[in-house]
Amino acid sequence: MRILQSALIVLGFGYGVVSAPTLKQPERRSFKVEAVRRSNSIYGPAALRKAYVKYGIVASDIGLDLDDFEPSVKVAAAVGTESKVEEPELTGAVSAKSVEGDASFVSPITIGGQQLTVTFDTGSSDVWVVNTQLPKDSIEGQTAYSPTKSTTFKNMTGSTFNITYGDDSYAYGGVGTDTINVGGVTVTGQAIGLPTAVASSILDDTHSNGLVGLGFTSLNTVKPTQQKSFFETIADVLDEPVLSASLVSDGVGQYEFGTVDKSKYKGNLVNATVDSSGGFWKFESSYYRVGNGTLKKHDDATSTIADTGTSLMLLEQTVVDEYYAEVKGAQFATSASGYIYPCSAELPNLSIAIGPQHLATIPGDLINFQEVGTNTTTGEAVCYGGIQSNSGLDMQILGDAFLKAFYVVFDLRGPSIGVASPV
Ligand SMILES: *[C@@H]1O[C@H](CO)[C@@H](O)[C@H](O)[C@H]1NC(C)=O
Ligand SMILES: *[C@@H]1O[C@H](CO)[C@@H](O)[C@H](O)[C@H]1NC(C)=O
Ligand SMILES: *[C@@H]1O[C@H](CO)[C@@H](O)[C@H](O)[C@H]1NC(C)=O
Ligand SMILES: *[C@@H]1O[C@H](CO)[C@@H](O)[C@H](O)[C@H]1NC(C)=O
Ligand SMILES: *[C@@H]1O[C@H](CO)[C@@H](O)[C@H](O)[C@H]1NC(C)=O
Ligand SMILES: *[C@@H]1O[C@H](CO)[C@@H](O)[C@H](O)[C@H]1NC(C)=O
Repeated sequence: MRILQSALIVLGFGYGVVSAPTLKQPERRSFKVEAVRRSNSIYGPAALRKAYVKYGIVASDIGLDLDDFEPSVKVAAAVGTESKVEEPELTGAVSAKSVEGDASFVSPITIGGQQLTVTFDTGSSDVWVVNTQLPKDSIEGQTAYSPTKSTTFKNMTGSTFNITYGDDSYAYGGVGTDTINVGGVTVTGQAIGLPTAVASSILDDTHSNGLVGLGFTSLNTVKPTQQKSFFETIADVLDEPVLSASLVSDGVGQYEFGTVDKSKYKGNLVNATVDSSGGFWKFESSYYRVGNGTLKKHDDATSTIADTGTSLMLLEQTVVDEYYAEVKGAQFATSASGYIYPCSAELPNLSIAIGPQHLATIPGDLINFQEVGTNTTTGEAVCYGGIQSNSGLDMQILGDAFLKAFYVVFDLRGPSIGVASPV
């Protein structure tokens, strides 16, 4: 059983006035899409590397290359080491393909009547899918969208999109429009990137056939005319312009468009103002507390984004260091690109601010990410934390490791973000 003890504590003032209900128009609606944890084998260090590449983070060369740590999978590490990509040493749960894994949750959609499995990504704003224009041998194991088999496809001749997450992670090519169906809601004329080049690191991940960006329009990369983001497009047909995420670590979660479901959370939904100018779901988060320690404030008002397309929580180095200082046996391992600790260690809660007035507490038992190897001295299992460093990036990134602990509402009004404890 999942015991969720996430608590929200009022730091200062009281809650704001409850907003007036939205008038329901008959043609408007809400809908749900399943968010399935795509596998249990997303490799933490690889997820960290993927996130670093996505946000252009150059990891600093810190930490120890521990002699007595034997990782269960070896990957080219972002941090410092020269290790080459090798076949996994242990078979079983960890497959080679999942080594490149990043986001944990995938959902079904149809484009032009063709079913695909995509990642909903609040950290980007393009829609793009693996398609039949890509070299056949590069898309083995993938489900590819075929524009020629769709009766509703229209080429946007002259338009291009180009998402670059760094040298080894990119997708670019032409753009067309087609009809997307998500959870029974049909969006016609949606601009869809049809890459002719995609990094193999992305294509190797056969669990996801593409990305549906749920960030703001300003991050959309289509040229010469930037396209309205998918979320802003569908907002017009929703009861309320909201996306509610109830992701769970051990089952089928849900993205729900158009409604806030009061039966899915307890207590109050606490809201923070979102600064959408950079295209991200970015809010202020200056305070934090490790376990029952004292409430601390970052030196600079720290911006934080909520990103469903990232697996881990990437926080400021000081927070990460203070957190693992409270975990018995924790150490930073270069060979794991992050903090590891004996799996038997108890993890403290971590509270981080949601806006200037509220704290969200992530229960310690949800902070463990996975077992990543063995202590060769003691034979003990070694675990990898869901919290790792943002390596000096000017914002913190709250990925699925955070989102799984809460009911989270992405609200285009304001815009704002709301967080509550799930039931
Ligand atoms: C937060 O926003 C939601 C809508 O997203 C609203 O229903 C709720 O009342 C707000 N909560 C507070 C405390 O203002
Ligand atoms: C392995 O266990 C020894 C003995 O407890 C400890 O000193 C060492 O730091 C551990 N190494 C790792 C990688 O956990
Ligand atoms: C769209 O048009 C461009 C330019 O004519 C062409 O290169 C591309 O292959 C077309 N895309 C599709 C999916 O037909
Ligand atoms: C895509 O964008 C990157 C970075 O902005 C640039 O270096 C690259 O040349 C672009 N690729 C194409 C095909 O336009
Ligand atoms: C923190 O405080 C709570 C409630 O007072 C208590 O149940 C818990 O054991 C404390 N945790 C630690 C690590 O001291
Ligand atoms: C974590 O927080 C919950 C709720 O505030 C509390 O009941 C629990 O004792 C805390 N756990 C630890 C290890 O402090």
